Formats: sequence, C-alpha cells, structure tokens
Amino acid sequence: MNRRVLLTCLIVVTSTGSAAAADAGKQIVLQGGSNPGATACVTCHGVDGAGNAAAGFPRLAGLSASYLERQIEAYRLGTRTSAVMAPIAKALTGSESASVSEYYAHQHPPAPQTQARPQRLAAGKRLAITGDWANGIPACVLCHGPAGQGIAGAYFPALAGQHASYIVGQIQAWKNGERRNDPINLMKSVAEALTQEQVEAVAAYFAGPGQKRLRGKRGCERRAPNREHRADGGALGSLARLHTAKRSRDSRQRIRAHGLAWQKSLHLHP
Ligand code: HEC
Ligand code: HEC
Repeated sequence: MNRRVLLTCLIVVTSTGSAAAADAGKQIVLQGGSNPGATACVTCHGVDGAGNAAAGFPRLAGLSASYLERQIEAYRLGTRTSAVMAPIAKALTGSESASVSEYYAHQHPPAPQTQARPQRLAAGKRLAITGDWANGIPACVLCHGPAGQGIAGAYFPALAGQHASYIVGQIQAWKNGERRNDPINLMKSVAEALTQEQVEAVAAYFAGPGQKRLRGKRGCERRAPNREHRADGGALGSLARLHTAKRSRDSRQRIRAHGLAWQKSLHLHP
C-alpha cells in the first residue's frame, strides 16, 4: 500500500470513529440513554446545549468533554447534589456519559442575551479581572482563563456565556455545602469569600459583556491562549499553595504578589 492510500484509510477510519461517537451522543440528547431513567437531555439543555436561563438549566455547549463527564460522575457519586440531575446521571452508562459529553462540547449555540445595569457590570468586570485581594478573592480569570473561556481540560470550566442564574446558584451551592467536587476546595474558598452583591455582579458580567470576546470562536474546546494556562497541573499546584497558605498578614501579601505576577505574565490589563 503506498503512503497516500494508507493516509486516506487512516483519515476515513478516524473520521468515521468520531462521527459514530457524535451520532451516539446526539441520540442520547434527543431520545435518552438505554436505561429508562436517562431521560432525553434536549428537554432542558436543548439540542445545541444552550440551556435555559429562566429555568436554571446550564449551558453545556463548549464546556470541555472531560469537564462534563466529571460533573456527571459527581452527580452519580453525590459530591454534587441535584434532585433533577442525580437520577439521570445514575441511569447513564459510562460510554453514554462519554459520548453525550463529547457531543455537547462541540456545539456552538449563540451567546445568551442579558441585560444588567452598567454599574453592576462594571463591578462584576472588576472582580472577574482583578479580584478583591483584600478580602481573599483572587480574580476569576486566574483559574477560568483570561476571557473566562475556561482552560482546556477537566478542571477549570468556561464561565463566559453561562447563564447568570446558574452561576449564582452554583456559588450558593458551594456556600451551602451541596457542591463538594472541586479539587482541593478551590471554588469553595472563593464562594465563601464572596458577598451576595459580588456574586450577582460577576454572574451578570460573565453572562453579558464578558462573553462577547467568545463570539465566532470555533473549536472543540475554547483554546487557552498560552502554555501556562494549558497546564492544568501547574495552575492547580500554585493555586493549591495559594489557598492553603495560612491567612496571616504576611501570607496575604505573598498571595497578592503571586496573583499579580501571574496576572502580569498573562498580559491581563485590568
Ligand atoms: C429535567 C431537566 C434536565 C434534564 C432532562 C437533563 N438535565 Fe442536566 N441539568 C439540569 C439542571 C437543573 C442542572 C443544574 C443542577 C445543579 O444545580 O447542579 C443540570 C446540570 C447538568 C450538568 C452540569 C453542568 C455544569 O456546567 O457543571 C451536566 C454535565 C448535565 N446536566 C448533563 C445532562 C445530560 C447529559 C442530560 C441527558 C442525559 C441531562 N443533563 C438532562 C437539568 C436537566
Ligand atoms: C483558585 C481557582 C479558582 C478561582 C480563583 C475561581 N474559580 Fe470558579 N472554579 C474553580 C474550579 C476548580 C471549578 C470546577 C469545580 C469542579 O470541578 O466541579 C470552578 C467552577 C466554577 C463554577 C461552576 C461552573 C459550572 O459550569 O458548573 C462557577 C459558577 C465558578 N467557578 C465561578 C467563579 C467565579 C465567579 C469566580 C471569581 C469570583 C471564580 N469562580 C474563581 C476554581 C476557581
């Protein structure tokens, strides 16, 4: 077999494989899984994964497949509580969870339209991009990517384009102890430090103007702009140190310096 034929065969085999996975995923979205409890996702998340702001159904489109799979697993294990999602997650088989996650990760519905007062949006933007270090709150973009587009991999989801009502609900879930699946309590410590006003402002920002920069983006996972952000392990390691550091005045200063240096290295200009 000459090289060109071999190459053609490889391309056919690979694309048939992923097309089959996408078809299997779409079937689950439209008709549900093989167990009766695995109801069709389309009712709540839509065929394009846009979700529904009024009902609190999250947008799944564009979140990485590995993140979505981890969340389904968390509902199954009970480290994330939801009366709606837990029985559905338990009824999905492992391969169904994988193919449906793969399907939603590749969808590109239009960004939601939201409105909020300019003052609130400005406060949300400030918090998202520079944090509130005096109160122990790092900038959201340090972990969620410079434009809130998430970091490729299983741990740091996109926030840009997510519904404000869902963001508010999840932060409340961390405060109440209903969501406990975040690595080394990274999100729990952030959630606990946020005031209700801050939560609402930052949620409005990510759902509104904060998602604009994502328009027109294509690709399986929203790409991180530089290597540093791609390295989940590295980011997680430094943030672990950042969060487990004792909150003495000295360490607060160290945390702040560390965060600001990181921000600078990412060329973020608040
Ligand atoms: C009856 C409505 C409903 C149906 C049907 C449904 N979901 Fe959900 N889903 C929800 C709600 C509500 C939440 C948010 C729950 C919470 O607060 O944690 C959610 C959350 C999720 C999340 C977590 C998203 C994130 O950003 O962390 C995933 C993943 C998910 N659903 C996948 C699915 C899949 C796959 C199906 C189909 C097999 C499905 N859902 C069917 C209502 C539904
Ligand atoms: C120190 C790192 C870190 C910082 C800073 C951070 N987060 Fe997170 N966040 C995480 C991790 C890790 C997860 C994923 C948890 C999981 O795996 O379930 C997460 C998940 C979330 C989710 C759930 C998304 C979904 O689809 O279910 C929301 C909402 C969220 N963060 C909001 C924020 C906001 C708002 C800020 C800024 C005020 C912020 N985060 C700052 C680490 C961080």
